[in-house]
Amino acid sequence: MPEFIPLISKQEIDRKIKKIGQQISFDYKTKDLILIGVLKGSFIFMADLTRQISIDHTIDFIGASSYEGTSSTGQIVFTKQPDLELEGKDVLLVEDIVDTGNTFLKIIEFIKLLNPGSIKICTLIDKHERRKVKINVDYSCFSLEKGFIVGYGLDYNEKYRNLPAIYDLKL
Ligand code: IMP
Ligand code: MG
Repeated sequence: MPEFIPLISKQEIDRKIKKIGQQISFDYKTKDLILIGVLKGSFIFMADLTRQISIDHTIDFIGASSYEGTSSTGQIVFTKQPDLELEGKDVLLVEDIVDTGNTFLKIIEFIKLLNPGSIKICTLIDKHERRKVKINVDYSCFSLEKGFIVGYGLDYNEKYRNLPAIYDLKL
């Protein structure tokens, strides 16, 4: 049976998101903010973050699946593209976890082609264990050296996204 070891409580998550929401509201006061959530892992984080941002903004989602083929960099397929016009907009990409960074790099390359005014990154978890590319994370709620975590939108084989907080998964 898998074991779920509590790592980050819902109160801690709420507190951090409130702080980051205030910071984003301040930083983007004079900008044209659009949050773009990376499916599916960011869906709960997005729902909480958007409600902690007090300035007007829009939201959209992007879907990306990575396939680890024979090449070490992996291939990425977009399963959903943003519906809204991004030209000139200040894009804040909202991710659940930045791990190796490979998926993210491809998403940034893709978004750049749509000519936004700016692109920044907000992640729930900044995980350093297997980072392969240099990515500048602008807003990060929590930092994690290693381990595999689930809950609050994060999955293992598509399960456990519904758990209320973040847990270390022991298989
Ligand atoms: P990468 O940065 O391209 O390696 O991909 C990161 C993605 O892998 C994240 O957006 C998650 O969907 C997934 N991922 C990485 N580490 C974990 C974890 O500890 N738990 C759940 N999903 C993870
Ligand atoms: Mg993800």
